[in-house]
Amino acid sequence: MDNQRNILVTGGCGFIGSNFIHLVAGIRPNWRLVNLDLLTYAGNLKNLEGIDEGRGYRFVKGDICDQALVNSLFKRERIDTVVHFAAESHVDRSIVDPDAFIRTNIFGTFTLLEAARSYWQGGTNTIAKPIFLHVSTDEVFGSLGESGYFTETTPYDPRSPYSASKASSDHLASAYFHTYGLPVIITNCSNNYGPYQFPEKLIPLIFNNGRNGKELPVYGDGKNIRDWLYVTDHCQAVVEVIDRGSSGRTYNIGGNNEKTNIEVVTLICEMLDAKIGPLPDGRSRNSLITFVTDRLGHDRRYAIDSSRLKEEIGWQPSVSFEQGIEMTIDWYLANQEWLATVIDGSYQDYYKKMYA
Ligand code: NAD
Ligand code: TYD
Repeated sequence: MDNQRNILVTGGCGFIGSNFIHLVAGIRPNWRLVNLDLLTYAGNLKNLEGIDEGRGYRFVKGDICDQALVNSLFKRERIDTVVHFAAESHVDRSIVDPDAFIRTNIFGTFTLLEAARSYWQGGTNTIAKPIFLHVSTDEVFGSLGESGYFTETTPYDPRSPYSASKASSDHLASAYFHTYGLPVIITNCSNNYGPYQFPEKLIPLIFNNGRNGKELPVYGDGKNIRDWLYVTDHCQAVVEVIDRGSSGRTYNIGGNNEKTNIEVVTLICEMLDAKIGPLPDGRSRNSLITFVTDRLGHDRRYAIDSSRLKEEIGWQPSVSFEQGIEMTIDWYLANQEWLATVIDGSYQDYYKKMYA
C-alpha cells in the first residue's frame, strides 16, 4: 500500500509528530508531507534534522486555529489526508493553565475539521479517498481500578483539563463523521516514550535528572500505572490505520506494557548506573528517588485493549518495554546536545532566526 498521498501533518515538530515524519520518510516515499506547526515550547525544528524541504516535505509555521491559513493550505497543497497530532499535551501544564488546551485542542481541531469539510465536500476538486485521522489519547476514558482494560466502547470519563479537551476534540471529530460524512478515523493511544520527547514527561525527566545526579520526583505513592508504548510502534500503527482503517472507526493503540511509575523510575536508574556508572559517591541513582506531593486528580491506572487494531488492521507492538527503555536511554545519551538545548531553551533561538 503505497498510494500517492498529500498529507497535512499537524504538530510535526513535536515528539510523536517528528517520529512519524522520520518513519514515513523511510517507508512511504510516495507520501508528500506538509507539516503545520506553531512551534510552541513543545515544537523543535531540530527534531527534524535530516528531513529536507523539497518535493516530499514542506514545513509551514502556523496555528491550527487560523482558519484562513488552514483553508489555504488545503487548497494550495491539495490535501487528501490529515494526520492531526498538534495539541497541548502535558497534564501538569493543563492543571496549572488550561487555557491553551481548550484553544488548541478543541478550537484547533474544529478549525481543521471545518477546513476538511469545506475543501473535500466543496464540490470543486477531485480528492479520492480522503482521511482525517485524529490522534488522541487513552486518557479520555478516565481511570481504571485494579482490573479491566479500555476498549473502543468504554464510556468517556476524562478527569484532567488535558483529557477533557482531548475528549471534546474526539467528540467533534466523531460528530463530523456522523453529521457530514467526513471520513474521520480516531486513534486513542496509551503513553508513548522514545527519542525527541520533551523532558517534562516522566521518562526523559527521570533520565535527565538521574544523569545529572538530581532528585527524581515520583508523585504520590508511585504506584500509578501507565501502559507504555515505544513511539515508533505508535507511528507504525498510524501508518497502518491510514492504509487499512475504516472511516468512522476508532482504534485503541496500546503497548501491553503496564508498569507502575516506581518500576519505570527504578529501571531507568539501574540502566543509567550500568551504562555510565553510579553516582560519584558510589550510590545507585535509586537513592535520588523522592516521593513528592501527588498530582491533582491523578488517574490511577491506564491499560489498553488493542485487539481491534490487531484483528482488523494486523498491527501489534514490536518493541518490548525493556528494549524500548534501553533504546531511549541510548538515544538520550547519544543526543545530549539536543537535550541541553531543550533544557536551556536555546533550541528556540534556532527557529526564531529562521522565522523571525
Ligand atoms: P508534543 O507536545 O510533543 O507536540 C505537540 C506539537 O504540536 C508541538 O510541535 C507544538 O509546537 C504543536 N502545536 C501546539 N499547538 C499548536 C497550534 N495551535 N498550532 C499548530 N501546532 C501546534 O505532543 P506529543 O506528545 O507529540 O503528542 C502528539 C499528539 O498525540 C497529541 O494530540 C497528544 O494528545 C497525542 N497523544 C500523545 C501521547 C503521549 O504519550 N505523548 C499519547 C497518546 C496520544
Ligand atoms: P506523564 O509523563 O506526565 O504522562 P501522563 O500524565 O500523560 O500519563 O506522567 C506519567 C506518569 O508519571 C503519571 O502517573 C505522572 C507520573 N509523574 C511522576 O511521578 N513524576 C513526574 O515528575 C512526572 C512528570 C510524572
